[in-house]
Amino acid sequence: MQAVPIAKNIWWVGAIDWTARHFHGQTYTTQRGTTYNAYLILDEKITLIDAVYGPFAGEMIQRIRSVVPAEKIDTIIANHIEPDHSGALPELLKFCPNARIYGSERAGQGLEHYYHQKLNFQAVKTGDLLSLGRRTLRLIEIPMIHWPDSMMSYLVEDQILFSNDTFGQHYATSERFDDEVPQETLMEETGKYYANILWPFGNLIAQRLAEIEKMAIPIRMIATSHGLSWRKDPWKVIEAYKRWSANETKPKIVVVYETMYGSTAKMAGKIVEGISDAGVPFKLYDIAQTDRTSVIYDMFDAKAYIVGSSNHDGGILPNMVSFMEFLKGLHPKNRIGCAFGSYGWSGVAIMKLEAILKEAGVAIVHPALSVVYAPDDAQLTACYELGKKVAALVQKG
Ligand SMILES: [Fe+2]
Ligand SMILES: [Fe+2]
Repeated sequence: MQAVPIAKNIWWVGAIDWTARHFHGQTYTTQRGTTYNAYLILDEKITLIDAVYGPFAGEMIQRIRSVVPAEKIDTIIANHIEPDHSGALPELLKFCPNARIYGSERAGQGLEHYYHQKLNFQAVKTGDLLSLGRRTLRLIEIPMIHWPDSMMSYLVEDQILFSNDTFGQHYATSERFDDEVPQETLMEETGKYYANILWPFGNLIAQRLAEIEKMAIPIRMIATSHGLSWRKDPWKVIEAYKRWSANETKPKIVVVYETMYGSTAKMAGKIVEGISDAGVPFKLYDIAQTDRTSVIYDMFDAKAYIVGSSNHDGGILPNMVSFMEFLKGLHPKNRIGCAFGSYGWSGVAIMKLEAILKEAGVAIVHPALSVVYAPDDAQLTACYELGKKVAALVQKG
């Protein structure tokens, strides 16, 4: 396992997780795997920026050893303590136990809670400069993007922004840079990452991006902690983040449902027929058959959500419950929607769906539509009309 040079005396020493299909437990489907990026800077101080997920410690250490003995590392920057970036630290510290770790104050506290060992830790804050010898690191805290400890590091002389999770993608490739992969795939994975992980922090992201712009630091490269780094056009991803953090929507509707015997599916079919006849773009998903990460990515720019479930044991079907709880946590703003579904003797599921939509911040624009057992012709017409109504509202903007 060799290190990959990204600039003079700066190396990528991360790990490629080709087989990962889930991330954050089961909450994120990594269809293309992922990478954990760590970087080694050779200067008077031998510096490691971030580490990798614990099971990949050996791969990172091997890549470090292809450049310099791991024992020589004396400086570690912990931009973010989440285990996908700090998990390998205990293993690495066996070789360089005296290395000083720099991170935000919250990072110091968090590392103690995670690893329960004495660390040579020094807290830093925005604006602090750390001399590595001929090079200087400027530290930029970005709390709650996406954890309280989160930070970026900017290498002044080389104009490289080590952005950690921000601007990254879950995308395992043998390539390391944006210009080496298909742009469409790169932007899709970057967008999926933003929608599924960073969406709730849009306002903060907009603020921090404005602060970084105010710093007027020239950025030649953004070295991320997942997937590809941006060397061809780092501003492409910054501009994309600016657009995304503005939370703009398109006239588009996403219909998501789960069904037991097909009645709720039949309703969904009629709803999208109404939407289609109104000429509004839409997507239709059975959540039991689809990975949540892609559905959320589709919902990210959609103005309206119509959600359905059959009633089951006095509640929503399990895949749909899980999906709705995840959606609620993303706090989509400026969206409209409504609920539908079928039941036998208790229509609680449909009311619950509507309640979760409200809790998520979605404005309800049509009363929940429910049918007993299976929809009749009149009820299917009502579904069609519901689709048309929401489509008309979406077109109005
Ligand atoms: Fe993270
Ligand atoms: Fe991460």
